[in-house]
Amino acid sequence: MESETVRTKKKKKSLGHMNKASMGTSSFLHIFLILALLLGLAKPDPDSLQDYCIADTKSSFYLNGVPCINPNLATTAHFTTSALAKPGNTRANTFGFNVTLTTVANLPGINTLGLSLARVDIAGNGIVPPHSHPRASEVTICLKGSILVGFVDTSNRLYTQQLRPGESFVFPKGLIHFLFNVDSLNPALAISGFSSQNPGAQVASLATFRSNPYIPDDVVKKAFQITTQDVMKIRKNLGG
Ligand SMILES: *[C@@H]1O[C@H](CO)[C@@H](O)[C@H](O)[C@H]1NC(C)=O
Repeated sequence: MESETVRTKKKKKSLGHMNKASMGTSSFLHIFLILALLLGLAKPDPDSLQDYCIADTKSSFYLNGVPCINPNLATTAHFTTSALAKPGNTRANTFGFNVTLTTVANLPGINTLGLSLARVDIAGNGIVPPHSHPRASEVTICLKGSILVGFVDTSNRLYTQQLRPGESFVFPKGLIHFLFNVDSLNPALAISGFSSQNPGAQVASLATFRSNPYIPDDVVKKAFQITTQDVMKIRKNLGG
């Protein structure tokens, strides 16, 4: 990126007839943009100051992350898990999906490393409904089946792609996205990596219609331009 800026500057110099004031403004803008990027407006979790910080899951301290155990007590077991070895139960919800995540509980060595991994099982025609991860970008790879994925950016533009085994897709941090198994007969499997040890997830439909307590009906009705009956029906369909 820096070399690109240098090139741009050179080009501008060679143009000669450009006045000095406008050149000054544009290089100031460039420097400001580079600084903004370097200062990390899109940072993953903060860097660790140590090789590792095995999560002390029994600690009652609250801080940004989880405290570490004494590093001398670290073992290989802290860095390994079979949490993702088994398929999740896709019948546990009406959407037909199950996400199994590595966390500081099942993989304590992940603490402070700024990443995690998920196994995404999707039943035939099942869906991981539109949702977002407030703390992480996600890169997913389809291992089995045929998965239609997509996300919507903040200008409401949709980016979508049908993934076959071996193909990947990336969902930028915080943007609403979905995964749909287009095959009605066979289950699909994807593995996702996250740029946070604790990406968080918010399902758009559940946050809106199944919050606890409920968002007042009048708010939902107005927001979606629907009736009380519609609100009740959607809540019921979503298990409410
Ligand atoms: C995933 O399956 C497990 C059991 O295998 C279940 O406890 C959990 O609620 C399921 N998750 C979802 C999101 O349905």
